[in-house]
Amino acid sequence: MSVIVDTRFTRMLGLDLPLAGFSRSPGVVAEVSSAGGLGVLAATPYGPDELDRHLTWIAERCGGAPFGVDLLVPPGPMTESARSPLPSSHIEFVRDLLAEHGIEAPGLGALGHGSTTTTSISSAGVEALLDVTFAHRPALVANALGPAPARLVERAHAEDVLVAALIGSSAHARRQLDLGVDLLVAQGTEAGGHTGSIATMVLTPEIVDLAGDVPVLAAGGIADGRQLAASLALGAAGAWCGSVWLASEEDVTPMTVKRRLLRAGSGDTVRSAARTGKPARQLRSAWHDAWERSDAPEILPMDQQLLLSKDAWALIEAAAEEGRDVGDLTSFFVGQVVGRMTELRPTRQIVDDMVAGCLAAIGELRGPH
Ligand SMILES: Cc1cc2nc3c(=O)[nH]c(=O)nc-3n(C[C@H](O)[C@H](O)[C@H](O)COP(=O)(O)O)c2cc1C
Repeated sequence: MSVIVDTRFTRMLGLDLPLAGFSRSPGVVAEVSSAGGLGVLAATPYGPDELDRHLTWIAERCGGAPFGVDLLVPPGPMTESARSPLPSSHIEFVRDLLAEHGIEAPGLGALGHGSTTTTSISSAGVEALLDVTFAHRPALVANALGPAPARLVERAHAEDVLVAALIGSSAHARRQLDLGVDLLVAQGTEAGGHTGSIATMVLTPEIVDLAGDVPVLAAGGIADGRQLAASLALGAAGAWCGSVWLASEEDVTPMTVKRRLLRAGSGDTVRSAARTGKPARQLRSAWHDAWERSDAPEILPMDQQLLLSKDAWALIEAAAEEGRDVGDLTSFFVGQVVGRMTELRPTRQIVDDMVAGCLAAIGELRGPH
């Protein structure tokens, strides 16, 4: 693998490539790390035992190459709203919506309580995930939404683990720098998942200038070598990619969803709070359209909206997997680069293509000597 360029990020972690690959798929994480980048496993979809198994497997596959873990650590205890029953108006609304697509959901609202996602973002759930994470000695832990609690930064540093934080604005970045994080991921609005409203092109240089000695990775809208070269040109120490791996062979997303992603254009995503209660970019579907209707109930706080939609999405995905026609209800978190994701490739191929494209773009800019 050719070394594109040495940056503060590659030096800090001993990498060959200025590239971080975020994924919930252990196979993607291991391949990115083995290729010389930093694979980062999303811990949120897993309970502690599953996370333990995945990290054991990744560490074996990486053969000593560094890898990271991404968590969603709440700043304080889970709010009361998660423990109160979901409003019946919301349950009715979702039940009707699913019924329009041929999905019966009699037990809706009860299934999600205690589900993996909601447990893993609760304080107790996160502590268990943190114990497993640190036992596997990752090179880096990242925190997704909002400022990481000081106890996470202190624990990581005590265990020689670097801390990264995803941010979407200067205000977020300042808060994270005050907490002592080692790496900022400036994530633009193009990105899949929870995201702000500022574009990567604008956000990256703004955060690079603000961050001083702390390296910044650009995230959001980076899926090929030219975009990787562009993030380096913006002053970033590398790129942090999430969506592009959904079109990899190692990604675990069901084929029913992947087929929709491969057909989608760059204008087919929406930044909507309808799935998690906070604005997150995902493939627009009948679910999002319904929540924008004038008769739709108000979106609930994150913990409750997650409970409501977790049940519903489990039913939607199960129905799609059974081969039932659920129309255009299926969706997943994905960024605007979905429009360039037209075929499945091995993760290694995606990395190799990105590196070759980046070197070619840099070469073209330099021109003939
Ligand atoms: C399917 C998916 C799920 C995501 N979930 C998380 C998450 O749990 N935690 C997190 O820090 N970022 C999450 N993100 C955001 C990524 O970490 C990354 O910043 C983003 O994908 C970069 O933009 P891109 O999608 O254009 O590559 C997710 C992104 C995707 C595509």
